[in-house]
Amino acid sequence: LRAAVITGEGGPEVLSIQEVPTPEPGPREIRVRVEASAINRADLLQCRGRYPAPPGWPAHIPGLELAGFVDACGADVTRWRVGDAVMAVVGGGACADAITLLEDEAVPIPGGMAPTDAAAIPEAFFTAYDAAVLQGGLEGGGWLAINAVGSGVGTAAVQIARCLGARSVGSSRTQFKLDRATTMGLDVPVLGSSDALAAAARQATDKHGVQVVVDLLGGEGLEALTGALTGQGRLILVGLLAGIRSQLNLGRVLTRRLTVTGTVLRSRPTAEKVALARAFESKILPHFEGSTPSLYPVIDRAMPLAHIADAHRLLASNQTFGKIVLDHTL
Ligand SMILES: NC(=O)c1ccc[n+]([C@@H]2O[C@H](COP(=O)([O-])OP(=O)(O)OC[C@H]3O[C@@H](n4cnc5c(N)ncnc54)[C@H](OP(=O)(O)O)[C@@H]3O)[C@@H](O)[C@H]2O)c1
Repeated sequence: LRAAVITGEGGPEVLSIQEVPTPEPGPREIRVRVEASAINRADLLQCRGRYPAPPGWPAHIPGLELAGFVDACGADVTRWRVGDAVMAVVGGGACADAITLLEDEAVPIPGGMAPTDAAAIPEAFFTAYDAAVLQGGLEGGGWLAINAVGSGVGTAAVQIARCLGARSVGSSRTQFKLDRATTMGLDVPVLGSSDALAAAARQATDKHGVQVVVDLLGGEGLEALTGALTGQGRLILVGLLAGIRSQLNLGRVLTRRLTVTGTVLRSRPTAEKVALARAFESKILPHFEGSTPSLYPVIDRAMPLAHIADAHRLLASNQTFGKIVLDHTL
């Protein structure tokens, strides 16, 4: 079985393609023949020894999301049969040609979609839906601000907002990403990041502020972003690309009754991950289906699994729009 293996601590050069044993599914598990996986910033951190896989997941094989076909079922599996097309968020190990996971962690690939497209869905859309809707409470008619709208999660969040009938304001430092996001339904593109986004969010809402901010950057810009929120608004902190420290005007948090919440998928208890997968399956997945889907995966490019080190370099360059998929069939 072929897998990308983290052979030390460092940059993409620590990744090597190796043969590893084929995993056998436990009673409630399925084994998936992985046709495609996708890469995430967490994989880059894991290579550097700064984000180990949670217990129970392969420690040295990166990869948090995948799409493929069930090729073996444990004795107690009821939801799937061999040959079913599935996709999933996992705690690690997706950059291998097979992986085992609990049957409840998998969701079906939207009808007819190729695994190389579906692999770009799970992490970005689970995260965006969970942050903006389940935790942020975004509803139709509301406003969502997205800090780094050209990111994998950002491109999912802007589509989900449009799908709900909410409006969005989103930032990027790169004009072409704003142009692309606008074609997906971004109402107010903002060239810049936190400060510019907060100012544009106030202006777009006649100074009322937005109901929800999804922040992929963190850092010192967090304080400015709280100024984008309406009373009782919610800021959901998803990523820390701009840093781990920020000042916060607690007077504003208190008087405007704001909520500032951090969130992470990877280290959640299994029951919470399964609950999110079921909510996603019933509320979001149908929008990827039909003759005119309203949601679609956003893929910067697909690369062979063997080129994973180059894919990591590309992601770190900040030049990508949407997801980088690794095609395991090449
Ligand atoms: N909490 C969770 O469960 C969870 C789940 C998924 C992802 N994440 C995190 O969310 C973040 C985004 O992930 P992703 O995969 O969606 O992103 P991505 O596709 O890697 O894109 C991130 C974008 O952010 C912008 N950016 C990067 N560094 C920046 C900086 N210092 N200041 C301003 N903008 C910067 C860049 O675009 P421009 O330069 O063009 O603006 C970059 O393309 C990452 O930190 C990731 O680890 C968290």
